[in-house]
Amino acid sequence: MITPAASAVPQPIAAPLTRAAIFLVVALDPGPDNLPAVRSLCADLSALLRAVGFRDLEGGLSCVMAFGSDAWDRLFEQPRPAELHPFREIRAGPRHAVATPGDLLFHIRARRMDLCFELATQIMARLGAAVLPVDEVHGFRYFDARDLLGFVDGTENPTGQEAIEATLIGEEDSDFAGGSYVIVQKYLHDMAGWNALSTEAQERIIGRTKLSDIELDARVKKLSDIELDARVKPSSAHSALTTIVEDGEEKKILRDNMPFGQAGQGEFGTYFIGYSRSPRTIEQMLENMFIGRPPGNYDRLLDFSRAVTGNLFFAPTATFLDAVTADPPPASEPAQPNPPPGDGSLGIGSLKGDPPA
Ligand code: HEM
Repeated sequence: MITPAASAVPQPIAAPLTRAAIFLVVALDPGPDNLPAVRSLCADLSALLRAVGFRDLEGGLSCVMAFGSDAWDRLFEQPRPAELHPFREIRAGPRHAVATPGDLLFHIRARRMDLCFELATQIMARLGAAVLPVDEVHGFRYFDARDLLGFVDGTENPTGQEAIEATLIGEEDSDFAGGSYVIVQKYLHDMAGWNALSTEAQERIIGRTKLSDIELDARVKKLSDIELDARVKPSSAHSALTTIVEDGEEKKILRDNMPFGQAGQGEFGTYFIGYSRSPRTIEQMLENMFIGRPPGNYDRLLDFSRAVTGNLFFAPTATFLDAVTADPPPASEPAQPNPPPGDGSLGIGSLKGDPPA
């Protein structure tokens, strides 16, 4: 069992779902002169969050800051999280999980977009010329937590202790216990193609009913049954291919996908964000979706959804961020990623949404 409070305070990975979110990805400007600006923001992020969040205590403002593999090496050197590596692209027929640039991720959530926007503005003002913007998506909650395809998205997320177990690193990488891996992908939907399908066909692609969000019956697997009975979940359903069972135990991840778009431009999208204790779990889901399980039995959602970005980041603990200094410690003093709490740290955890139950 993971008890992160006993060692270091995690970032608010399992913050409650919110009405608004900004997904901000930036690249480090080349040149060592820029690193101190980024490093000093790490320690000051909690103060920025306090300043903006205090203006509406009901607003539930939170922010997770995460680092790509190359950025980690440039900013922090050793030690490094055991499973941190660049996003691995996948090509399978016309399906392509692209890998795109990006060094830092800010996942900003609140009940109000103005809070998210203000924090993003303050972060960018602090970073200045040290970074280059790569991608910024403003997501909104759509009716009863539906994606723009019309399906409720997030139902099977783990909660409470199960969410902590699924997302936070434990003894397997003790230097980074309480940290988490995060994969993001920005998807654009072919709404005309999707809407041309019958509701039943859409339900078989997702694996749940559209209006009532009830899981289709996964027990009967023969193809003849699938064709005959719309209530049967095909093995190619999105929710089937993203169910990973290892040694009899289901491997969960925590998602906080958000719809986004520009109606006038005909842009309709889902920003996928998944947190996991090991990136391998999400990578396995992506392989199942893009290549298929077995190969060829791929996720038909991808016939109507195209990934236009793809990144893997590592979100260290809030305690780690609080302890970063503008200049790296001398080589003789290795960084202490997880100093114990109760040390007068900025207490980033308390302002970053409700603690996981
Ligand atoms: C086009 C982008 C995506 C859309 C619109 C989408 C939508 C959905 C919907 C509607 C559900 C069913 C309700 C729920 O349990 O949340 C679902 C389930 C799920 N999705 Fe996605 N998803 C997308 C991409 C992804 C990706 C890229 C992954 C992982 C790599 C993923 C992992 C999952 C998981 C783990 C579940 C729960 C499966 C279960 O336990 O039943 N999704 N998704």
